[in-house]
Amino acid sequence: MDHSTNYSDVLLKYAQYQEAARKVLVPSCRVCKVCNGIACAGRYTNALEFGAKGNNLGFIHAYQALADIRIELDVIHDDYVPDMNIELFGRQFDLPVFASPIAKILTDYTFDSPFFNNNDAYADALIKGAYQAGGMAWLGDNKAEGYFPGQIAPIQEVNGVGVPTIKPWADRAEFDKRVQWCREAGVMAMATDLDAIGLGYQYSGKVGAKNEGVCARNVDELKDFVQAAGVPVVIKGIMSVKAAVKAAETGAYGILISNHGGNVVESSLAPCDVVEEISREVGGALKIFADGGVRSGEDVFKMLALGADAVGIGRPYTVAVYGGGLDGVATYTQKIYWELQNIMRLANCASLVDITREKVIVRR
Ligand SMILES: Cc1cc2nc3c(=O)[nH]c(=O)nc-3n(C[C@H](O)[C@H](O)[C@H](O)COP(=O)(O)O)c2cc1C
Repeated sequence: MDHSTNYSDVLLKYAQYQEAARKVLVPSCRVCKVCNGIACAGRYTNALEFGAKGNNLGFIHAYQALADIRIELDVIHDDYVPDMNIELFGRQFDLPVFASPIAKILTDYTFDSPFFNNNDAYADALIKGAYQAGGMAWLGDNKAEGYFPGQIAPIQEVNGVGVPTIKPWADRAEFDKRVQWCREAGVMAMATDLDAIGLGYQYSGKVGAKNEGVCARNVDELKDFVQAAGVPVVIKGIMSVKAAVKAAETGAYGILISNHGGNVVESSLAPCDVVEEISREVGGALKIFADGGVRSGEDVFKMLALGADAVGIGRPYTVAVYGGGLDGVATYTQKIYWELQNIMRLANCASLVDITREKVIVRR
């Protein structure tokens, strides 16, 4: 895509989209200047609004741990335009950043927005806006009738660029149906968020994985999914070396290191805290994706330095859709693009392979 719009113009436009989002999303989301989980902590018992589970600590800690990492600068070098191009799933992207899957926002409030309860319009804006800016979007999953086929439809219009993330439904027919729909839509990849087994409690108020109709998967079951998908598969919700090693046995293309934005557990480690050791262990066998608290190009840089191949951003992309639709998503992606390019130049990284572990300082 054309990345000629300058950073100030992008920032101004983005601020206007944030303002527009604020008008519709308050009080569910205050569209804070810093999206760090503080203002939405404990706001409402239904954690799948914009906040996170319980006291929001899983969200707050993910944000804060990443913010606490510092970047080493080196400004004496040849002048160059940092190259952020990356190949993933056999496709080329302008930057190693994607919109993380966010399904329907559950709230008792009604938003005065064309995207409220219109998942097809929401996915359309997200998929096309990210694609237009040289990135990509992943999509969430939900039980509602018509939800899944409707939201994956726009992927066909952008050459298959999009990653539907299928919940590990206990009802295998539900799961298999989604795999088939994805194949028919020609998606470039699929994912499954295994940590969704922690969501049942929040949806229904009852303890137990089956409440949301999802259940755990073992290595053999995941192997079957990889086979049936026929395209690269990413396993989402990996937060330990133990689970990553098992994921590597499945034949998956990659893992998404994620604590579901703090939605499934209050006391998890921050995703950025586990990226380095997981990537050291399985980075040769699997692509490493990571999300959680990423809010800027500098945050993307930190995740890459710790060992991620590409980085996801969740809530801010939702705000971008509600504030500016397709152009909101493209503008937000462009903002991250400029910020990553800027920090790469300051840290003397001509291309993504130069973003190595030595470039960041982690003091815990
Ligand atoms: C409201 C909401 C809905 C979400 N829905 C899904 C989903 O359907 N599938 C999924 O894999 N992850 C889902 N997630 C988790 C995100 O994909 C992602 O891991 C998380 O938002 C990243 O953290 P961040 O928002 O701090 O960037 C959801 C998160 C939120 C806040």
